[in-house]
Amino acid sequence: MTQIGIIGGSGFDDPTLFENQVEREVTTPFGKPSDVLIEGQIKGVPCVLLARHGRKHQFQPSDVNYRANIWALKQVGCTHILATTATGSLVEEYKPGDLVILNDFIDRTWGRKCTFYDRTEGGPKGVCHLPMHPAFCERARNAMITAARTRGYRYHETGTAVVIQGPRFSSRAESLMHRQWGGHLVNMTTVPEVVLAKEAGLSYAAVALVTDYDCWRENETSVSVSEVLAMFAKNVKKAADVIIDAVQVLAAETDRQYLSAHQEQVSSAIMLKE
Ligand code: ADE
Repeated sequence: MTQIGIIGGSGFDDPTLFENQVEREVTTPFGKPSDVLIEGQIKGVPCVLLARHGRKHQFQPSDVNYRANIWALKQVGCTHILATTATGSLVEEYKPGDLVILNDFIDRTWGRKCTFYDRTEGGPKGVCHLPMHPAFCERARNAMITAARTRGYRYHETGTAVVIQGPRFSSRAESLMHRQWGGHLVNMTTVPEVVLAKEAGLSYAAVALVTDYDCWRENETSVSVSEVLAMFAKNVKKAADVIIDAVQVLAAETDRQYLSAHQEQVSSAIMLKE
């Protein structure tokens, strides 16, 4: 069965879109997720919504319990996770308002818990050295790409996100360095979310919504919270539409071999299981 976790969750407030909603409070060996899980269906497909930062946006990026979020979705039976994320742009062609289906990341975070395999009681056993390429599930990415194309939105099929620790934005020197590194986008949450979803053996993809040009452009003001919030509010429906349609694409597929392949990749990455 397909059940799809949706992280981000803004833009799914329409009760006629998200049918038969039930709130479920859960806990995991890694603690509590950011908020209740909201279970329901999108056009008949079982889905579970989770607000990454909590519904009151009470957790800043470095304080989100990413492990509990991913584990909770896995625990209630999700096979896939589709996420939305607000991002700054590091290249001219990725314009505010565009959608980007992420395909890679550069990790500039520190001190975040990036593995389930750390001998937490009730967690999995062993040491896990998981390859990170490809970082995102190609099948879930393709479903998002199909959805974005069909809707006629401006989108980019690939993009590398530089993930910074926050909560501050980058300095100009950092922003210029991130550009030189080949980053297209910058945000604060894709790591460790994508890493943990992969370690959980789930199919994970993320649609980034470009909200600003960070601070690398000459003679332009730096990104601000008000700019990010306004652009996000204005465009979040596009990201939600992509997820809504990608849910249908994924649920209609009959070849589900890739889901076992994700799990096998994790099994083969574990040492010292005893
Ligand atoms: N999220 C949205 N815009 C951002 C930026 N410029 N830097 C980091 N995170 C962001």
